[in-house]
Amino acid sequence: MAVGAGVLSIAAAATLAVTAPGTSSAASGLGGVAEASGRYVGTAVDPGRVNDGSYGTILDTEFNSVTAENAMKWDALQPSQGQYNWTNADTVMRRAEANGQMVRGHTLVWHSQTPQWVQNLSTTQLRQAMVDHITTVMTRYKGRIAHWDVVNEAFNDDGSRRQSFWQQKLGDSYIADAFRAARAADPSAKLYINDYSTDAINSKSTAIYNLVSQFKQQGVPIDGVGFQAHLIINQVPSNFQQNLQRFADLGLDVAITELDIRMQTPPDAAKLATQKSDYQKSFAACWAVTRCKGVTIWGITDKFSWIPDVFPGQGAALLWNESYQKKSAYDGSVAGMGGTVPPPTTTTTTTTTTTSGNPPVPGACAATYRVTNQWQGGFQAEVRVTAGSSAITGWAVSWTFGNGERITQIWNATAASTSGAVTARNAAYNGRLGAGASTTFGFTGSGTPGTPTATCATA
Ligand code: G3I
Repeated sequence: MAVGAGVLSIAAAATLAVTAPGTSSAASGLGGVAEASGRYVGTAVDPGRVNDGSYGTILDTEFNSVTAENAMKWDALQPSQGQYNWTNADTVMRRAEANGQMVRGHTLVWHSQTPQWVQNLSTTQLRQAMVDHITTVMTRYKGRIAHWDVVNEAFNDDGSRRQSFWQQKLGDSYIADAFRAARAADPSAKLYINDYSTDAINSKSTAIYNLVSQFKQQGVPIDGVGFQAHLIINQVPSNFQQNLQRFADLGLDVAITELDIRMQTPPDAAKLATQKSDYQKSFAACWAVTRCKGVTIWGITDKFSWIPDVFPGQGAALLWNESYQKKSAYDGSVAGMGGTVPPPTTTTTTTTTTTSGNPPVPGACAATYRVTNQWQGGFQAEVRVTAGSSAITGWAVSWTFGNGERITQIWNATAASTSGAVTARNAAYNGRLGAGASTTFGFTGSGTPGTPTATCATA
């Protein structure tokens, strides 16, 4: 693995008016708080809801990761064999990219929401259809989806394999085969196995633990384990953190992928207070584990949730109520991240940058560029942006690729060009840095990575 050294700052004087509020409040959002520790807070999105009330605004400004709630499932993407419908999935992708949000892909191989034609295939045809689907979907979004839930819900609660049509027709080997196909299709995506009721140390999570341990030993390509965490108030497992840690100790990433914490409806003050504390505990469990990459909340508003359909009489499980008012669970989530929500600002700031050196100067920033991973034909890099001796409200990092490298996916920043001279600007949620504070953005690229010098200018 090549590691490039990065460098210091700065550009020429630039005077720029920055109007913060109204245009974006993400600096005060959950994604902004998560970003401070290099993590994400995501939400599940239904593209059909974005014009309902504040749904679209909350989606765009509160989160730095997005998962399609249904739009990337098999029945949505390939309803008939070989006939793909990308409309809703593309809509989710484009909106996330426009907002500088990372995307989690959900999900490639699952027993549910998979059309009957798939289930009717013979063993040989089914194996081929699985590989074809994985390859086609991942290739379309190659380099743009950071994490994929490759296999979803393959186990029963007692730790045995779910007797799905996948298992019955293809046998135990289908999970490893799916991961191999996924790695071949997009080597830059982090590949996850995902399941529910695995948040505690129990028979089911231990079965997955045993499987992924075996995968690590056998060289089956897997990068992470997703814990859905569809929880009930007062029932956050006490060993949630310990459970996440044991997977991390195998050398895997972990993430809470579908968090919601439901109650008997209607909600009341006591239940909401319990829910706040439960959200805090869940976030804290992730934040205590270095390899826990982030938390995705399974939806935005209590107005739209899968829960009442499946558990009649239950719901109110999310962070915004049916009228899009923030619930106290929001503050619990922030507290679980050890963060404080910066108040939105209404000031117009004029910033002048000057050449920076060491020690840091007011109004300046520095950038360090390093390659964090490399494979045949591609690489991943991380750039750390650090404010000088005074707070900054935005930044732009520039470098020139010298080896013909090209950015294929960027997160936590936006870049107008992908090759040659590149300038990456902060996303809506991570431009504000206190004096000496830092943030990171990253990207995957094609080609052989060099070690360009990055310069930072405030914006
Ligand atoms: O699209 C059809 C629509 O044409 C039809 O008129 C309508 C009538 O019911 O149904 C619509 O499909 C619904 C679909 O969501 C899209 O809205 C399905 O009935 C409904 O069952 C489906 O529910 C989804 C559920 O997965 C299916 O298993 C939920 O929205 C989604 O939140 C839920 O998400 C799952 C994760 O993928 C995996 N982990 C558990 C989680 C919660 O169940």
